[in-house]
Amino acid sequence: MNVVGTLPQMRDLSRRWHLAGETIALVPTMGALHAGHLALVAAASRECTRVVVSIFVNPTQFGPTEDFSRYPRDLDGDLRALSGLKVDAVFVPSAEGMYGPGFQTSVELAHLPRHLCGLTRTNHFGGVALVVAKLFNVVRPDVAVFGLKDYQQVRVIEQMVADLDQDVRILRHPTLREPDGLAMSSRNRYLSPADRATAPTLYATLQAIAGAVAGGATDAIRLAADGRARLEAAGFVPEYLALCSPETLDEVVTIEGPVLVAVAARLGATRLIDNLVAVPGGSPAAVSPAS
Ligand code: PAF
Repeated sequence: MNVVGTLPQMRDLSRRWHLAGETIALVPTMGALHAGHLALVAAASRECTRVVVSIFVNPTQFGPTEDFSRYPRDLDGDLRALSGLKVDAVFVPSAEGMYGPGFQTSVELAHLPRHLCGLTRTNHFGGVALVVAKLFNVVRPDVAVFGLKDYQQVRVIEQMVADLDQDVRILRHPTLREPDGLAMSSRNRYLSPADRATAPTLYATLQAIAGAVAGGATDAIRLAADGRARLEAAGFVPEYLALCSPETLDEVVTIEGPVLVAVAARLGATRLIDNLVAVPGGSPAAVSPAS
């Protein structure tokens, strides 16, 4: 497995692979890899002849009070986790390499970031769009794989790719969950044992809403309020729980079709997010994570 530390080296490798007729799948990550990431890598290897995993804790997507400095970093552990998989290169650029002196370009979307996580993380999606655009420019992937736990991120990237005519196919990958339903996340390691025991209530609350929607409930505002109350009773501090359009992320008032049910809530010092798509008239058992 090739560990590639600079942008010119990565660009050169990509150019050589393309000239040889190979195809490239990229899995962008911030490291601290868990089974959810490894599933993205496995999916990538089914799509293309070459797989690149990028590991870069991107400073531009963290706010000044967020966890950039304490975000888990474990390159050795990450390389060990990837070693058994089909990975042709691990791209680990430095912050200086990605954002050199005088860097001044931004990538902003007008609407999608103004919902859900973007309401409190105001610079987050601009930072994500910027770094992903740069990764696409350097790696030149044919396919890029993203997990649906970060549903809003996936929509932002899909929209950016469409708007900027970027020549890459975005593959959505279902959220991987622990046996008790908690969505896998690098931040789960922050949870205390007591909070870890409470954490599955987040997904259980989304499933209860999906069940109500499947059973004919149409009042999205009421369902969201009930869901927030359930989370508060369990000890969460909800940031948002919203039912919205899976495409535009605009809030839905009356449910008439599939709705994204998305949540962000704090448990202790840890911020957790999750989502699913609820389908009116669908059986609750058939409601799957957003896909
Ligand atoms: O989802 C993540 O890990 C990050 O937001 C990403 C897409 C790698 C960009 O830094």
